Amino acid sequence: MNFTTKDLGKPLFLSKGIFLVVYAAASVLLPFLVLYYEKIGLTGTKKGCDTGQCGACTVLLEGKPVPSCLILAVDAKGKEITTIEGVAVDGRLHPLQEAFIQKGAVQCGYCTPGMILAAKALLDTSPNPTEQEIKEAIAGNLCRCTGYVKIVEAISSTAGESHGQ
Ligand code: FES
Ligand code: FES
Repeated sequence: MNFTTKDLGKPLFLSKGIFLVVYAAASVLLPFLVLYYEKIGLTGTKKGCDTGQCGACTVLLEGKPVPSCLILAVDAKGKEITTIEGVAVDGRLHPLQEAFIQKGAVQCGYCTPGMILAAKALLDTSPNPTEQEIKEAIAGNLCRCTGYVKIVEAISSTAGESHGQ
Protein backbone atom coordinates (compact mmCIF):
# COMPACT_ATOMS: atom_id res chain seq x y z
CA MET A 1 0.00 0.00 0.00
CA ASN A 2 1.31 3.46 -0.84
CA PHE A 3 1.21 6.48 1.43
CA THR A 4 0.97 10.16 0.66
CA THR A 5 2.01 13.10 2.78
CA LYS A 6 -1.62 13.71 3.75
CA ASP A 7 -1.51 10.38 5.57
CA LEU A 8 1.26 11.49 7.87
CA GLY A 9 0.42 11.56 11.53
CA LYS A 10 -2.41 9.07 11.48
CA PRO A 11 -2.72 5.32 11.33
CA LEU A 12 -4.10 3.90 8.11
CA PHE A 13 -6.78 1.54 9.37
CA LEU A 14 -7.41 -1.67 7.47
CA SER A 15 -10.08 -2.53 10.00
CA LYS A 16 -10.58 -1.88 13.71
CA GLY A 17 -7.38 -2.81 15.47
CA ILE A 18 -5.48 -3.61 12.29
CA PHE A 19 -3.57 -0.73 10.82
CA LEU A 20 -0.47 0.50 9.12
CA VAL A 21 1.64 3.07 10.92
CA VAL A 22 1.99 6.31 9.02
CA TYR A 23 3.46 8.52 11.65
CA ALA A 24 4.27 12.15 12.11
CA ALA A 25 7.90 13.07 12.53
CA ALA A 26 7.30 13.75 16.21
CA SER A 27 6.08 10.18 16.73
CA VAL A 28 8.86 8.17 15.15
CA LEU A 29 10.66 7.45 18.41
CA LEU A 30 7.56 6.60 20.40
CA PRO A 31 7.22 2.97 21.39
CA PHE A 32 4.15 1.37 19.80
CA LEU A 33 2.55 1.09 23.18
CA VAL A 34 2.53 4.85 23.69
CA LEU A 35 1.41 5.37 20.13
CA TYR A 36 -1.67 3.18 20.63
CA TYR A 37 -2.76 4.92 23.79
CA GLU A 38 -1.90 8.51 23.15
CA LYS A 39 -2.13 8.91 19.39
CA ILE A 40 -4.55 6.24 18.26
CA GLY A 41 -6.72 5.60 21.32
CA LEU A 42 -6.59 1.79 21.28
CA THR A 43 -6.37 0.73 24.92
CA GLY A 44 -6.63 -3.06 24.66
CA THR A 45 -2.85 -3.48 24.60
CA LYS A 46 -1.59 -3.62 28.17
CA LYS A 47 1.51 -2.13 29.73
CA GLY A 48 3.24 -4.35 32.26
CA CYS A 49 6.98 -4.31 32.76
CA ASP A 50 7.75 -1.83 29.96
CA THR A 51 11.05 -3.68 29.48
CA GLY A 52 10.13 -6.50 27.10
CA GLN A 53 9.84 -9.22 29.72
CA CYS A 54 6.16 -9.79 30.52
CA GLY A 55 4.40 -9.98 27.15
CA ALA A 56 1.38 -7.96 28.30
CA CYS A 57 1.95 -5.48 25.48
CA THR A 58 2.21 -8.10 22.73
CA VAL A 59 0.88 -7.12 19.31
CA LEU A 60 1.34 -8.72 15.91
CA LEU A 61 3.73 -7.00 13.54
CA GLU A 62 3.31 -8.52 10.11
CA GLY A 63 1.71 -11.49 11.87
CA LYS A 64 4.52 -12.06 14.34
CA PRO A 65 4.17 -11.38 18.08
CA VAL A 66 6.36 -8.55 19.36
CA PRO A 67 6.57 -6.63 22.66
CA SER A 68 5.20 -3.26 21.64
CA CYS A 69 6.92 -1.51 24.54
CA LEU A 70 10.27 -2.11 22.84
CA ILE A 71 9.42 -1.46 19.20
CA LEU A 72 9.67 2.09 17.94
CA ALA A 73 7.08 3.46 15.60
CA VAL A 74 9.83 4.16 13.09
CA ASP A 75 10.45 0.44 12.81
CA ALA A 76 6.83 -0.15 11.82
CA LYS A 77 6.63 2.17 8.86
CA GLY A 78 4.21 0.70 6.35
CA LYS A 79 3.91 -2.57 8.25
CA GLU A 80 0.67 -4.22 9.33
CA ILE A 81 0.02 -4.19 13.06
CA THR A 82 -2.74 -6.15 14.76
CA THR A 83 -3.81 -5.26 18.29
CA ILE A 84 -6.38 -7.16 20.32
CA GLU A 85 -9.05 -4.83 18.92
CA GLY A 86 -8.44 -6.36 15.51
CA VAL A 87 -9.08 -9.96 16.50
CA ALA A 88 -12.88 -10.05 16.68
CA VAL A 89 -14.59 -9.84 13.30
CA ASP A 90 -17.94 -8.11 12.74
CA GLY A 91 -18.71 -8.22 16.44
CA ARG A 92 -17.99 -11.95 16.69
CA LEU A 93 -15.27 -12.96 19.13
CA HIS A 94 -12.32 -14.87 17.75
CA PRO A 95 -12.47 -18.61 18.63
CA LEU A 96 -9.51 -18.03 20.95
CA GLN A 97 -11.41 -15.34 22.82
CA GLU A 98 -14.42 -17.65 23.14
CA ALA A 99 -12.20 -20.49 24.35
CA PHE A 100 -10.50 -18.31 26.97
CA ILE A 101 -13.92 -17.45 28.36
CA GLN A 102 -15.30 -21.00 28.19
CA LYS A 103 -12.21 -22.60 29.75
CA GLY A 104 -11.85 -20.06 32.54
CA ALA A 105 -8.50 -18.88 31.21
CA VAL A 106 -9.23 -15.26 32.14
CA GLN A 107 -9.00 -14.08 35.72
CA CYS A 108 -7.83 -10.48 36.09
CA GLY A 109 -7.44 -10.40 32.30
CA TYR A 110 -4.37 -8.23 32.20
CA CYS A 111 -2.26 -10.79 30.34
CA THR A 112 -5.13 -11.91 28.10
CA PRO A 113 -4.72 -9.60 25.08
CA GLY A 114 -1.05 -10.53 24.77
CA MET A 115 -1.74 -14.21 25.36
CA ILE A 116 -4.42 -14.30 22.70
CA LEU A 117 -2.26 -12.54 20.13
CA ALA A 118 0.70 -14.84 20.84
CA ALA A 119 -1.64 -17.83 20.48
CA LYS A 120 -3.18 -16.43 17.31
CA ALA A 121 0.26 -16.07 15.74
CA LEU A 122 0.94 -19.72 16.55
CA LEU A 123 -2.38 -21.03 15.23
CA ASP A 124 -2.13 -18.93 12.07
CA THR A 125 1.08 -20.75 11.15
CA SER A 126 0.52 -24.06 12.92
CA PRO A 127 -3.22 -24.82 13.19
CA ASN A 128 -2.76 -28.01 15.21
CA PRO A 129 0.13 -27.37 17.58
CA THR A 130 1.30 -29.78 20.25
CA GLU A 131 1.01 -28.82 23.91
CA GLN A 132 4.74 -28.20 23.94
CA GLU A 133 4.48 -25.85 20.95
CA ILE A 134 1.70 -23.94 22.72
CA LYS A 135 3.80 -23.60 25.84
CA GLU A 136 6.75 -22.36 23.80
CA ALA A 137 4.54 -19.86 21.91
CA ILE A 138 3.35 -18.23 25.15
CA ALA A 139 6.65 -18.58 27.01
CA GLY A 140 7.20 -14.82 26.78
CA ASN A 141 3.76 -14.01 28.19
CA LEU A 142 3.52 -13.98 31.95
CA CYS A 143 0.29 -14.61 33.85
CA ARG A 144 0.14 -13.94 37.56
CA CYS A 145 -3.31 -15.49 38.06
CA THR A 146 -4.13 -18.67 36.19
CA GLY A 147 -1.12 -20.95 36.49
CA TYR A 148 -1.23 -21.37 32.68
CA VAL A 149 -3.12 -24.69 32.72
CA LYS A 150 -6.41 -23.14 31.64
CA ILE A 151 -4.67 -20.95 29.10
CA VAL A 152 -2.97 -23.91 27.45
CA GLU A 153 -6.27 -25.81 27.52
CA ALA A 154 -8.07 -22.90 25.87
CA ILE A 155 -5.51 -22.58 23.09
CA SER A 156 -5.41 -26.33 22.58
CA SER A 157 -9.22 -26.51 22.33
CA THR A 158 -9.15 -23.90 19.57
CA ALA A 159 -6.64 -25.74 17.40
CA GLY A 160 -7.96 -26.14 13.90
CA GLU A 161 -10.89 -23.77 14.52
CA SER A 162 -9.51 -20.34 13.78
CA HIS A 163 -10.39 -20.55 10.10
CA GLY A 164 -8.05 -17.68 9.27
CA GLN A 165 -9.90 -15.27 11.58
S1 FES B 1 5.06 -4.23 28.91
FE1 FES B 1 6.07 -4.84 27.11
S2 FES B 1 6.90 -6.79 27.57
FE2 FES B 1 6.07 -6.09 29.45
S1 FES C 1 -5.33 -13.52 34.11
FE1 FES C 1 -4.38 -12.14 35.52
S2 FES C 1 -2.34 -11.96 34.78
FE2 FES C 1 -3.21 -13.52 33.56
